[in-house]
Amino acid sequence: MSPERRDRSVHGHGASLQVDESRIVEEAWNAVASRYKAYWSPRLRPYLERAVAAFHPAPPGPIAVPGCGPGEEVLLLLENFPDRSVIALDISIEMVALLKKDLRERGIGSVVATVGAAENLSAFVRQAAGVLSCFTLDLLPNPLAALTDWSRCLRAGGSIVILFWPRPRTGTPTARIQAAIQAKTGQGKLLWEARALEALPLFGLRLVRDERVQFEVPCETPQEYFQAMMDAGPLQMVARKFGADLLKECMKSWLVNHGLRRKGSTWTDLPEARLWLIERTDEELSH
Ligand SMILES: C[S@@+](CC[C@H](N)C(=O)[O-])C[C@H]1O[C@@H](n2cnc3c(N)ncnc32)[C@H](O)[C@@H]1O
Repeated sequence: MSPERRDRSVHGHGASLQVDESRIVEEAWNAVASRYKAYWSPRLRPYLERAVAAFHPAPPGPIAVPGCGPGEEVLLLLENFPDRSVIALDISIEMVALLKKDLRERGIGSVVATVGAAENLSAFVRQAAGVLSCFTLDLLPNPLAALTDWSRCLRAGGSIVILFWPRPRTGTPTARIQAAIQAKTGQGKLLWEARALEALPLFGLRLVRDERVQFEVPCETPQEYFQAMMDAGPLQMVARKFGADLLKECMKSWLVNHGLRRKGSTWTDLPEARLWLIERTDEELSH
């Protein structure tokens, strides 16, 4: 069996399990929303700036932002496209509330921020000029299904920018965290990138740019870093699924050999994100 298939097999759930999983996802992101905004949003801002800089939707029309979180990239988008309307979606009501608060405080009326599943974006927007997705596609149970749906949202000539965490290179702090979790839970990360690239033409899409983006992400201590992934980030889902105690065991084994680099009295990671610029090619494609 190929490693890709083997890794995917841990995601093979029945329908009712999927419902439970999506509830866990929603509750986990609700629980961490304000801490995500406080801890991760400033650290990830350089990545989001890079994604927004790569985004130049050619046709007129709205811009869709699935998995917008607290909405850092939405505010950045508005700086570049003050005349466009934006439809921002997140599965977490608390994340949407954070974005709405910012929009209200800034008197911005051109954004519709609403609770919704990224996989179902086309139910919220059609004839969009573009889709911008940051750090969400790799979290979805079926990234290819989401991509198909996003292609349906676009008008001819529209484009999609996707920023995501790819499979980390061996030896990096993230790879070591994933290995520690997989060793204790059997839960592996879904491998989907190669299949998604192969499938793009079937969705009327074409890859225009594929680049790796790295910035320093600082933390006071390695323990703080792991704890922030758990209390303020994506490991909250793992904690809810397998129990906080088990995740703390994972943290302990990761701390023995974490791979973070020392920087003065603090520590730093240099996580590698991947950025795809994709264009809608087929004007005749009808959905
Ligand atoms: C890592 S955060 C990224 C937030 C923001 N885009 C950023 O880059 O800072 C992932 C976000 O995806 C949202 N999310 C997870 N699954 C989702 C789904 N199926 N549909 C919509 N949003 C989802 C979470 O609620 C969370 O806000």
